Formats: sequence, C-alpha cells, structure tokens
Amino acid sequence: MKEQIEQIRQAAAAALDSAQDAQQLEDVRIRFLGKKGELTAILKQMGSLSAEERPVIGQLANEVREDINGRIAAKGAEIKKAQLEKRLLGEKIDVTMPGVQPLIGHKHPLSIVLDEIKEIFMGMGFDIAEGPEVEYDYYNFEALNIPKDHPARDTQDTFYIDDNIVLRTQTSPMQIRFMEAHKPPFRMIAPGRVFRSDAVDATHSPLFNQIEGLVVDKGISMADLKGSLETFAKRLYGEDTRIRLRPHHFPFTEPSCEIDVSCFKCGGKGCPMCKGEGWIEILGGGMVHPKVLKNGGVDPDEYSGYAFGIGLERLVMFRFNIDDMRLLYENDLRFLSQF
Ligand code: DAH
Repeated sequence: MKEQIEQIRQAAAAALDSAQDAQQLEDVRIRFLGKKGELTAILKQMGSLSAEERPVIGQLANEVREDINGRIAAKGAEIKKAQLEKRLLGEKIDVTMPGVQPLIGHKHPLSIVLDEIKEIFMGMGFDIAEGPEVEYDYYNFEALNIPKDHPARDTQDTFYIDDNIVLRTQTSPMQIRFMEAHKPPFRMIAPGRVFRSDAVDATHSPLFNQIEGLVVDKGISMADLKGSLETFAKRLYGEDTRIRLRPHHFPFTEPSCEIDVSCFKCGGKGCPMCKGEGWIEILGGGMVHPKVLKNGGVDPDEYSGYAFGIGLERLVMFRFNIDDMRLLYENDLRFLSQF
C-alpha cells in the first residue's frame, strides 16, 4: 500500500506539472483528493490493515495529501501570475505614441451664411420665427392670393399629402401665420426648408432653403423696404455694395420687385460671376398685398407692410464660389471640410 501511495504522489506531481489553467488544476484535485479520488480510495481500504501498519500508512497518506494540496496551491498561484502577466502584456499602452485626434465638426456652409443673415436682421430689430414644413394649402397658396387656378401654382408644384396639405413651396405662409399670432408693429424673418417637385440638377433641388421677411407698421412704404434691404446687402457684402430694384410680379405683394446687388466680385464692371451683368439677383419682395394683410387679420386701412424672400442656396453658392447646388446636400466630407 505504501508503494501505491507513493505512486499517487508522483502521478499527482506529474499531472500538476502539466496543468495549464484553473480548470485543469481542479481536475487534478478531484482525480486524487476528491470523494472518489485515488488517495481517498486507498484510505478506504485502511480497515484491512494490521494495527501496526495502520498509523504508519495513515501518516504517510496524510503527508501525501498535504503534499498534493501544497503543490495545487503553488501551481494555482503560478497560473494566476502567468495569466496576469499575459493580460498586462496585452493591455500595455505606449504613452509616447501620438494620440488619435478627435474629429471636430463645424458648421455647414448653409448654416454659416444663414447665421450671418440672422445676425444682420437681429441687429435691425427683427424677430426670428419658425413654422411648419408640412403646411395647409390655405397658408401656402390661398391666403397668399394664389387661388387654386392661379398660374403661379404651376411654377411651385409640390408634394401633396392630400388635397389640403402640402409640403410648403415657400416660407411665405409664415407671413400669414405670424400676422395671425402677433399684433403690429413687428419685424420678423422666418428661415426654413421649402419643397418643390423639381428634378435635381446643378441649380435645382426638391428641397432648398428660403428666408422670409415681413415688416408691418403704420406708414411703411417702399422706401423702408429699400433702405432696410440696402443695409442688409452692405452688411453681407461690404459697404461699397449697391442695390437696384427691378419691377416684377408676385401674387402676394403689390407693387413687387426683384432686388439685385452690385456684383461682389467685380463691383459692377461685369465678370464671369455676374455673367457680365455687373448685378446679381438675390431676392424678391414688395409691399404686402392688402388682401394678404386682411387674410392675416391686419387692417390694410390702418397698416401697411413690406415682405421679401431670399433663396439661401444662391447666396451660399455665390459666397463660396460653388457651381453645383448638389454639393450642399451630399454630405461629402471632402467638400464640407473646406469651410
Ligand atoms: N415666395 C417667393 C418665392 O418663393 C419669394 C418671395 C417674393 C417672397 C416676394 C416674398 C416676396 O415675401 O415679397 O418665389
């Protein structure tokens, strides 16, 4: 029996030597010291021994058990240490390596120019209003003096939700909404997205941005429109900028005009930017039609007003010399990172 116990000691030592992880270590413990383990099996046979042999074998068995336990503990510590070292090696960081620079976003060119325009108008005492992009036909057309059969609807074909609800084709419905909600006098601009069912090309997009303007007070005249928009143009393009008003037609203003600024590239001499004209059209405007004032709940006998509409994309394209409108919507970082 002595030899058997010694064999167990050796077999356990060999098994422990080749154990690689905690699980294998536990397997060794069960195999030799567990309830059904090899050493335990030997001890169960102790009853068959003589009275002299029993204490000797008992002592040896205890000694071997202690020995195996000790080896298991030592091997366990060794495995833990090796695992820790391996982990530390994997997690090692080199603090002298250059860091990864976080990408920091910045304003889109449309926002850069829009923010400038807002600043300019806020400086002239205008409020900034916002309204729905999904709009009633009534606000988008009807209340702006564009009845169902009006030819102006042809140039502003849009996306219909149903017969009475459309994606707004212009920010002008904000004129009516603002008048309904405020008592004159007031000055406001209303920037926002507008929609038309236009095919995409270098100068058209089914989605673009406008900035509406509306001023209503007693005694407002075309001179106020001209003065304010001239100030706006000078702030945006520099003090030397001049503006000119050309007669035009909009259903919701009377009289109506288009407003050109002297070319900010050549100063008016004529160049490729202004197509040799010396002037660049930047907005439409006019005196608010009495019917439109009435539709907004404002008495045209007491008040008058001027309104204007600016196309944001056009201004941005001129400002940054961008020749294709699509670039503004494609979110190509090679383009956007230039601003
Ligand atoms: N809503 C017009 C358009 O989309 C632009 C416009 C012209 C707005 C004259 C105005 C205005 O307020 O007075 O073509």
